[in-house]
Amino acid sequence: MQPPKTLYLNDDHTAVVILDQTLLPQTIKYIELRNAKQVWSAIKDLQVRGAPAIGVTAALGLYIEMKTHTDENAFHQIIKTTKTYLSTARPTAVNLDWALNEMDKVYELNKEKPIPEIITALGKAAQAIYLDDTGICRRIGQHGVSLLKEGMGILTHCNAGALAATEYGTALAPIYIAKEQGINLRVYADETRPVLQGARLTAFELHHAGIDVTLICDNMAATVMAKGLIDAVFVGCDRVAANSDTANKIGTHGVALLAKHFNIPFYVCAPLSTIDMKTATGNDITIEERDASEVTNLWYNQPMTPAGVKVFNPSFDVTPGQYITGFITENGILCPPFNFQ
Ligand code: MRU
Repeated sequence: MQPPKTLYLNDDHTAVVILDQTLLPQTIKYIELRNAKQVWSAIKDLQVRGAPAIGVTAALGLYIEMKTHTDENAFHQIIKTTKTYLSTARPTAVNLDWALNEMDKVYELNKEKPIPEIITALGKAAQAIYLDDTGICRRIGQHGVSLLKEGMGILTHCNAGALAATEYGTALAPIYIAKEQGINLRVYADETRPVLQGARLTAFELHHAGIDVTLICDNMAATVMAKGLIDAVFVGCDRVAANSDTANKIGTHGVALLAKHFNIPFYVCAPLSTIDMKTATGNDITIEERDASEVTNLWYNQPMTPAGVKVFNPSFDVTPGQYITGFITENGILCPPFNFQ
């Protein structure tokens, strides 16, 4: 069974409705985002998160915002400023810019038309981005399942599941398809400090789906690998540079190094649109740094750090392409040497 829906457009197209992921796993609560400002904040505050999900939310958000602007003179300027504004919500995942650029292309094609027609075109485009995401994730799952056999142990990091996309997710899509095909797997989920997307979200959605999931602390990955419990690592990603360096949730790089050490294949699952040919190497990827309180206070009744101590809280890291066994995409599995031309 798929987990509760991550996000959807409401019936009268006045709000993007999202499952507030900051409340999971305790509370399932949907909130309505009715304008670009609310969409921006929900993305920034991780109420909706995961690379594909924030792209889809931003596209739908641009549409519902523009529906409220009917003044011919203002419309053409507001759509550009709103697109730029939404793209600043988070820097690392290329999906945000990608989805907004897709919306901009549709605007450019239709901009000479009357405003209601432009709005209709934007609505169709945003809904197509939503539906495409579901199809792409399912196809990633269908390709990825070819690597899986009964009883295998899979390690995953962060949450790249249905909650990070419209359905299925990327790294968890092969696991859902395996379940549909009657293949039983053992999934190990890193808790993924500091925000615990593994503990709160991956464990939640896999458990909900009846998939065998075991939660481990981030510092236990070497132990489960050394014990021979892991046959493959599947992770998602936020941006792939042209040289195949790959940004994903902080800690992914360490998992890749461990996998190399233990000779365990390390797969990155991603839509082809995640490959950003404008970014030459991992050094050119902007890594989001988040508030220190995520490390010091977030899950504690009282701060777990002396007041005033310095905190470094990068939200993502870059795994050099040399540690990646393959990219599982909607069009198949890319193996080294990676040539993204
Ligand atoms: O900070 P988050 O929760 O948005 O980080 C999410 C990840 O790093 C995912 O692994 C990535 O976005 C891929 S989601 C299919």
